[in-house]
Amino acid sequence: MKKTIIANWKMQLGFKDSQMLIKELKQKIKKTSSEIVICPDYLSLSSASSVFKGTNFNLGAQDCAIKASGALTGEVSPVSLKEIGIRYVIIGHWERRTVLGENSELINAKIKSALAAKLIPILCIGENLAEREAGLAKKVLLGQIKAALQGINIKVSSNLVIAYEPIWAIGTGESIIPFEANTIHTFIKNEVNKVLGKNIRVVYGGSVNSSNSFEFLKQKNVDGLLVGGASLNVKEFSSIVNN
Ligand code: 13P
Repeated sequence: MKKTIIANWKMQLGFKDSQMLIKELKQKIKKTSSEIVICPDYLSLSSASSVFKGTNFNLGAQDCAIKASGALTGEVSPVSLKEIGIRYVIIGHWERRTVLGENSELINAKIKSALAAKLIPILCIGENLAEREAGLAKKVLLGQIKAALQGINIKVSSNLVIAYEPIWAIGTGESIIPFEANTIHTFIKNEVNKVLGKNIRVVYGGSVNSSNSFEFLKQKNVDGLLVGGASLNVKEFSSIVNN
């Protein structure tokens, strides 16, 4: 199966720099064996959709609203995202859970609204350092899976992606050992299978770069990567996707 490599640009670039990076990526990355998903900020999605038309690049949003339309000041409808050619949407990233206070009910509602609009949610889950050190990682992940997927059905396994992002590895330069990621991904796949009856993709995120990506992608149950900082550098990102 093709590996899925997702770039999460977060809010790291201004509008002009995003436009430049989109064009550079199109020029530099012509052919890869993996599926590529670029997630710029909302403002850049529409132009990215035009630039990437007819290429191998897929686009993802970094969030979406809990419903298709309504009085929700400042939110962006998953239906509008679908209309402009967006395929994926990141939901429940830890920065949104912690800095912006998103709880599991909100995350569950966002997954439902994304699926209803025929977007593919990339659900982020992960334990923090204290939980890991206390041996609670699996318990925490299981709680996040159950809460996020409550009442959810998917028709085919490709309609949902889980991103395992241990919080202590995000932006720290310290990633998990690839073999350990594989063990946790196996656990996540089994638990999600119990809830949804599907074998879904699980990608790894947290301090991925061109030096460690190969080892991660070699693991059987690492179906791809969710890349933050390293996805902002064309050379670095193209070397990750061409691994
Ligand atoms: P870094 O790759 O910068 O650690 O970020 C990971 C992440 O949060 C991707 O969603």
